Amino acid sequence: MPLKTRQIGPCFAAEVEGVDLTRPLTPEDVAAIHAGMDEHAVLVFHDQPLDDEAQLAFSRSLGELEHAIGTSLRAPEDYRLPTTFADVSNLDRNEKVFARDDRRRLFGIGNRLWHSDSSFKPIPAMYSILHARSVPSRGGNTEFADMRAAYDALDDETRIEIEDLVCEHSQLFSRGQLGFTDFTDEERVRFAPVRQTLVRTHPVTRRKSLYLSSHAGGIVGWPVPEARSFLRDLVEHATQRQFVYAHRWRVGDLVMWDNRQTMHRARPFPANEPRDMRRTTLIGDGNTVELAQRDAAQVA
Ligand SMILES: [Fe+2]
Repeated sequence: MPLKTRQIGPCFAAEVEGVDLTRPLTPEDVAAIHAGMDEHAVLVFHDQPLDDEAQLAFSRSLGELEHAIGTSLRAPEDYRLPTTFADVSNLDRNEKVFARDDRRRLFGIGNRLWHSDSSFKPIPAMYSILHARSVPSRGGNTEFADMRAAYDALDDETRIEIEDLVCEHSQLFSRGQLGFTDFTDEERVRFAPVRQTLVRTHPVTRRKSLYLSSHAGGIVGWPVPEARSFLRDLVEHATQRQFVYAHRWRVGDLVMWDNRQTMHRARPFPANEPRDMRRTTLIGDGNTVELAQRDAAQVA
């Protein structure tokens, strides 16, 4: 089937119509969804009454799942969901809203900074697939920024300067920006920085994107303050309103985004209200530094 998509306003994201994600997808459906993602980078599916099993089945039909192990401050015995899900809710294992000063909640507030999922992992995420099970009465939007358009809008001098730069990504950096530095020695080891290129090329469309994330806290070979102010300028550029789509959630929405081509952030909502969002994630096809080296070897 050709995917029936409708671009949302003037922006890059699109709504998909006429697809029931609770049913198995045909190979043609899968190919059409990937093609839609390559083009739009964010796809919105409304009114999808998925349970965990259905969300997993849909996600697995598109690729290999990334597991959420050791990436948050939840201890394994605290997990509300299996590790095939990233639990981006504000709920504990008994479905109770975290207290305002709970460090698991404060760590999760890092998601309010612009980021790309799992950029702090050696092999970062490809797609994130987020399904809304309950939403707060107000706030809690997710905003997406098109990093292809942001790249295209850079001046030539900046494009040349960033072409081969490599950044260091860690959740210690993103949380540190919010003044959350209360990490144990074990967490500091677990969250050790990984390297990612600052520019990446989409494997199918060959379009270039800025690969930014609040997890990026340094540029290899640069003094730290200079690197951070440079990255901050790039994020400011990349998140101008003309590059951003703000998604206002309804229960049953499933939104899928390509972390290789977009950044996103969650917006605040009342601290005492549940927001049950369940994310499945597809793993990417390699570390960005190694992928860039492979690309360069093919060209040479
Ligand atoms: Fe995220």
